[in-house]
Amino acid sequence: MGIKLWINSDFLVKGCYSQALLQHLTIYTNIYLVIENLMTSSPLLNALAGKKSSRPPLWMMRQAGRYLAEYRAVRQSQSDFISFCLNSEKACEVTLQPIQRFDFDAAIIFSDILMIPWALDRNVHFIPGTGPKLTPWTIDIPLDNTLLDKISTRLAPIGKTVQLTRSKLAAEKALIGFAGAPWTVITYMIEGGSSRDFTDTRQWLWFHPKKFEALLDYVTEATIHFLVVQARAGADVLMLFDSWANAVPAERREQIVVAPIRRIIRALRKLGLKQPVIGFPKGIGEGIINYAEEAEIDALAIDHMTDAAWVNKILPKNMPVQGNLDPLSLLVGGSKMTKSIDHILDSFKDRPHIFNLGHGITPPTPICNVERMVQWVRKS
Ligand code: CP3
Repeated sequence: MGIKLWINSDFLVKGCYSQALLQHLTIYTNIYLVIENLMTSSPLLNALAGKKSSRPPLWMMRQAGRYLAEYRAVRQSQSDFISFCLNSEKACEVTLQPIQRFDFDAAIIFSDILMIPWALDRNVHFIPGTGPKLTPWTIDIPLDNTLLDKISTRLAPIGKTVQLTRSKLAAEKALIGFAGAPWTVITYMIEGGSSRDFTDTRQWLWFHPKKFEALLDYVTEATIHFLVVQARAGADVLMLFDSWANAVPAERREQIVVAPIRRIIRALRKLGLKQPVIGFPKGIGEGIINYAEEAEIDALAIDHMTDAAWVNKILPKNMPVQGNLDPLSLLVGGSKMTKSIDHILDSFKDRPHIFNLGHGITPPTPICNVERMVQWVRKS
């Protein structure tokens, strides 16, 4: 395209053919590169690089999942959830499904935060209707460092999924790799599954602080290995889900929520891995101020319990944010949902923003409401 636009006949008339041609071609090449860059670069990566745009890129937490009939069809063919996550072809297929259906700006690799306990031999099972079950971690279990050395090999199939998915994804769509933040993963390990109040894990903090610290270091190291696998395989962005950060006593947040994230990011940078990292410390309220300052993340994912207008006021001006529609507003849809979307768009209009939910989409969500959300955000 366009070469005629940039070379005119002046240089021929003036008789300085070769120099002028060279100059024009250089200008042309530079402009072409800029145009090409604008055309192929990813809106999500632009937002993470701190660029504002009139319409925010969007994707949804848990976008590959049971609310999609095409996901349920593939899921049916796999009785065991872990084997499903380790099956690169099938995992790639379901990772791409929400992009094919909604044209989101990013795909998130299909895997789970509990792949780390699985790789650490914690006997992880997903029981339909009940959730995950693990052999609970007890105080007397030794920390086996030889298992850390095996993480990259055991989780290599997820690297393969990343590679395969990246090869099938359009250039402007970003691919997100992820892990659970160490605290959230540890809650599943100690409780032996999901929990409402995390009593056993929180008791460790008071009764066995040294043992807890050692376990935190151990899981943090495992998380670094897992993210390195995904980053080296071609993930463009990394996200750390701290879904149960709300359960950490406020005065322990620095040690348990913030410091492990900083350590993970520093380790990645030391290895030369430059992928932007999104942190999601769900439910920590005013704690996001310190988290944004100290965790060394590139962007902050906001839950739906935190008001977008307040977030915009208290965060550094150019810090990219992601969020934060209540996933349950997608059950009701209509003007209740669009009003809520407008509040978010309006609050974040002057900063880099990635539109998303405040937590994962739920299985009963009607597809038409997701479609409406996408249209509404894109028309803004
Ligand atoms: O699109 C995506 O986001 C797909 C990848 C993904 C899954 N889990 C697949 C999954 C991601 C990013 C996760 C993260 C995850 N897993 C978190 C952090 C985010 C959050 O929602 O807070 C947590 C806490 C888990 C742990 C987990 N995995 C639980 C508690 C459960 C059972 C409850 C449930 O939602 O079913 C899972 C299973 C799971 N992970 C499913 C999916 C699609 C559903 C299982 C199924 O299909 O049978």
